[in-house]
Amino acid sequence: MAETAKPLTMDTIVSLCRRRGFVFPSSEIYGGLGSTYDYGHYGVLTKNNIRSLWFSAMVQERDDIVALDSAIILNPRVWEASGHVAGFSDPLVDCRTCKLRFRADQLEFGSCGRKPSKRPGETPDCDLTEPRRFNLMFETHVGALRDESSTAYLRPETAQGIFVNFKNVAQLARRKPPFGIAQIGKAFRNEITPGNFLFRQREFELMEMEFFVPPVEAEEWHRYWIDARRRWYLDLGLREENLRVREHSAEELSHYSSATSDLEYLYPIGWQELEGVANRGDYDLTQHTRESGTKLEWIDPDGTRYTPYVIEPAVSIDRIMLAFLCDAYHEEVVGDRERVVLRLHPRVAPVKAAILPLVPRDEGMAARARALYEELRLHHVVEHDDSGQIGRRYRRQDEIGTPWAFTVDEQTLEDETVTVRDRDSLAQERLPIGGVREWLDDALQQDWSSPQSR
Ligand code: GAP
Repeated sequence: MAETAKPLTMDTIVSLCRRRGFVFPSSEIYGGLGSTYDYGHYGVLTKNNIRSLWFSAMVQERDDIVALDSAIILNPRVWEASGHVAGFSDPLVDCRTCKLRFRADQLEFGSCGRKPSKRPGETPDCDLTEPRRFNLMFETHVGALRDESSTAYLRPETAQGIFVNFKNVAQLARRKPPFGIAQIGKAFRNEITPGNFLFRQREFELMEMEFFVPPVEAEEWHRYWIDARRRWYLDLGLREENLRVREHSAEELSHYSSATSDLEYLYPIGWQELEGVANRGDYDLTQHTRESGTKLEWIDPDGTRYTPYVIEPAVSIDRIMLAFLCDAYHEEVVGDRERVVLRLHPRVAPVKAAILPLVPRDEGMAARARALYEELRLHHVVEHDDSGQIGRRYRRQDEIGTPWAFTVDEQTLEDETVTVRDRDSLAQERLPIGGVREWLDDALQQDWSSPQSR
């Protein structure tokens, strides 16, 4: 196998996602809607896997974290207390010449409206205004009246739903700090310069965990969560050389954060934030205590009261999926043919195995392949494919990242064995057809790392 040496571009990933039905531009038949996307079949399966792997690591496999699913539209006072109404904004500049708007702190990612297109400010004609603040929250109205009193917001983060439930959960969950509350759900931001495919969207799915700790333990837990989250990505096969930790400078910190470290991934657009791990201190619980009049504090059995500090790992499924796709994408030459292969961790891959009758019109092969498929699909997402030449069927599965293919052939009819083909090494071995289910269960439990990083 020879690697082809082209650098990976975002367009390559966009085109694979489109071609194989992972992701479509949203409302496409009406010309789309800036930076919103619809996930197709394989995109949904991949997102489901990421969601459930995160949930297992953060909730199911731990004793100290519980789950929550709060509403998307909260009482607007939540966003006043949290500081989002006043402070959740980006600096915006307008170009008086081309009439486009850009994020003042990200002009290098903007594209000027004039031809030939350059970065905003690069041509002598560009006439940029002074930066002004632009609030990123989407406004809506609750109830029949449309006036200021009915204004509400689509949540820009799920975290506030957790803070305002702190008392409910702390009373009922029988946990004492350090303990966490985890939530997965949609978040909405009216981004000024969205773009770069799934990286910066206006609607995305956040996975956040607020970990409440005694203040003296905050720094230690901050380090713990940076390490734990980094380990999670590496265990799921992300290549170590493409992942790094970067501490925020004082100027970069959000209005609520006293320290944040980003886990950055080397996307085709360069090193960018994949996940943030913030030390939010007691900012949120203190603000909500002040504004709601409800004391959000912890009382130890000996009567000691304190407002816990919060350590928050926060990431969108969308950015994880984009990182996994970029990390997994490979073009290589096998024999005299090029193949595109997605080397996803088997637990992330949308389809775990393909079941292929070598000669579909052979009734014996067709029946055995169908029966194997019907057995396996009760336990895993698998595909049965009997259309086209076997080589093309393998290529199709390689492109969606299916780790294994079980092929029913002539020998199956003689000795009840099938071949199993490995996506990464292309090695083939024979297995008894009756043992395939157990083999697959076992293979999915094994550690995996990308052949590129071995
Ligand atoms: N509660 C903390 C918080 O919301 P953030 O850094 O603004 O922090 C958390 O966002 C994570 O959400 C980011 O690390 C990134 O993974 C993801 N994210 C943020 N904006 C996004 C967008 N416009 N599109 C996709 N994902 C986004």
